[in-house]
Amino acid sequence: MSRIVYVNGAYLPEAEARISVFDRGFLFADGVYEVSSVLAGKLIDNANHMARLERSLGELRMQPPIPLEEIPAIQREIVARNALDQGMVYLQVTRGAADREFRFPKGAKPSLVVFSQAKNLLEDPVAARGISVVTLPDIRWRRRDIKTVQLLAPALAKQAALDAGADDAWLVEDGVITEGTSNNAYIVTQEGTIVTRALSHSILHGITRRAVLGLAERAGLAVEERGFTADEAYEAAEAFITSASSFVYPVVRIDDRILGNGAPGPVATRLRRLYIEMALAES
Ligand code: PDD
Repeated sequence: MSRIVYVNGAYLPEAEARISVFDRGFLFADGVYEVSSVLAGKLIDNANHMARLERSLGELRMQPPIPLEEIPAIQREIVARNALDQGMVYLQVTRGAADREFRFPKGAKPSLVVFSQAKNLLEDPVAARGISVVTLPDIRWRRRDIKTVQLLAPALAKQAALDAGADDAWLVEDGVITEGTSNNAYIVTQEGTIVTRALSHSILHGITRRAVLGLAERAGLAVEERGFTADEAYEAAEAFITSASSFVYPVVRIDDRILGNGAPGPVATRLRRLYIEMALAES
């Protein structure tokens, strides 16, 4: 079945959807995006995704193409028109089409694209087995808190991880892990403390991270927001990642070190369950 996608005011079959070759998203990666998950046909935690979109646009001095409060209705229309039960809604705003010049164009109209991608988020075999990660240098730019579409560095890292027989990469800068290629990274120490990098320009401020840390605190689990090294991760009791497209995935191997008995750990498993319960209650 061909998807229906939204492009600048029109709902079109995906084969008919068009963006100009002069679009600055295409030429300069001059754009931002959001990925919201969908369960039972409902967007999960979408208000926080919209708040982050507003912040990303502001940081790049980019105008929204339409008032931001009108975007959720388009996301919901995409869910409905594609009969999406579980998966993600992707949205992208770029500075629009203009002659290729580095400075911001005058009078260009920002563009908005929204599409859906189906994924079985609840019965996810990857969550059941856990993932393996390899550590790689973080070669991304220094404003990873802005969710821009310039994703070449994470795409290269993800492919290098797959080529090395792993599922994903954890990125290392100044000796400490920043995050995964498209997810936030956590370890659980032998004492049971959840450790994840504090918010800064170095990492994306994950919407799932925010929710999962809230759930952890309400469950009485200790949380420390600080950097951790690969060596510390090798000695951890368990590890996991979070994102809108994975919720919580246990990490069972880091480089050539197997964590625990190589099966998903209890903290990651519990947080995944709590997150799904919360999301289903919202949906
Ligand atoms: N990625 N860190 C990075 C670098 C990310 O790209 C993402 C999200 C996250 C997690 O953020 P959130 O919990 O808000 O999804 C952290 C999305 C899912 C993607 O690019 O597909």
